[in-house]
Amino acid sequence: MAKITIDDISFEVPDGTSILQAARMMGGDMVPPAMCYYSKLKGTGGFCRSCLVKVEQGSEKDPRPMPKLVPSCKTTVMDGMVVRNRTSPEVVEARAGVVEFLLKNHPLDCPVCDQAGECDLQNLGFEHGKDSTRYEFERRTFECIDLGNKIKLHMNRCILCYRCVKTAEQITDGRVHGVINRGEVSEISTYIEQAIENDFSGNMIDVCPVGALTDRTFRFKSRVWFTKPVEAHRECPKCSGKVRLWYQGQEILRVTARKDQYGEVEEFICNDCRFDHKHTNDWVIEAPTKVSNKSVISQNHYTEDTSFQKRRILAETDLALGQHLKVGLGIAALNPNIVWVSDEELLAKAASKELPNH
Ligand code: SF4
Ligand code: FES
Repeated sequence: MAKITIDDISFEVPDGTSILQAARMMGGDMVPPAMCYYSKLKGTGGFCRSCLVKVEQGSEKDPRPMPKLVPSCKTTVMDGMVVRNRTSPEVVEARAGVVEFLLKNHPLDCPVCDQAGECDLQNLGFEHGKDSTRYEFERRTFECIDLGNKIKLHMNRCILCYRCVKTAEQITDGRVHGVINRGEVSEISTYIEQAIENDFSGNMIDVCPVGALTDRTFRFKSRVWFTKPVEAHRECPKCSGKVRLWYQGQEILRVTARKDQYGEVEEFICNDCRFDHKHTNDWVIEAPTKVSNKSVISQNHYTEDTSFQKRRILAETDLALGQHLKVGLGIAALNPNIVWVSDEELLAKAASKELPNH
């Protein structure tokens, strides 16, 4: 075991753990943001620099500080290491610079981007960026490309994190795309504009931290905060069949893998589940998804700012789901930390001005 101190909090982690993984074990504000690292894929990290931290003390044996900020996803913890994340002004400044670089070519098209509301770059910019840009030059631009009939590549938005390449390499057969060229002219490409067609290609949409790879079956159908996510599963011969359904009214607009608090999929799902099963009857509904009260997806779903343990969750009460939701309501009844509220109850509270005005 190795003892590490991050932002003045000390704890022990197994040898070989990276600083980022160690911070995630503790959770909270000490966790650096990550735009390219993905714990479910091998060889990710080291591309974006959004996870930079300051190492004030290298280890117990060699207490010298590291001369430069280091990417926490690629730096292994040493016994006695002392790290600063948000408590270092140098890190805060550097991270704002990284955001500026990531946004150098990225269009500010959030109002028309399908990823808005669940975009890692949007969150990174909001939490760590500055409110203006110094960039006055022309941005590089590309035509949108259809990668088959299910996936759209919007290269203007790509931040070259390589997550989709690693996904295609590690969980699909016969990768047909990658990064071509170098430096300013690098781009994700199928090289000869082939379609990406294999049973797990849709996972590239889920791992993309921005709106560069989007689901053509969902494009422009709704803003994510107008949809209601629900956990569901089905018997699937190709994958675990555990998914998240995104409802608008009684219609399933899209199906995605379930994601954890760091925006990483819990289990990769197959294209059959993702693209070909969009009726409630195809699924066994488990319960509404727990949505962080910081997320815009939860807009108007929370009654007041609550503690981490007492977050409120909106229960979708559509009649079509009623039967399945009885299971969910049963679970909620057993868990005192979950409070279910219906649309009617929210409307009544809104009318009585109990809800905050945002
Ligand atoms: S398309 Fe998305 S996942 Fe792929 S490299 Fe670009 S930003 Fe990363
Ligand atoms: S998350 Fe560490 S360099 Fe991108």
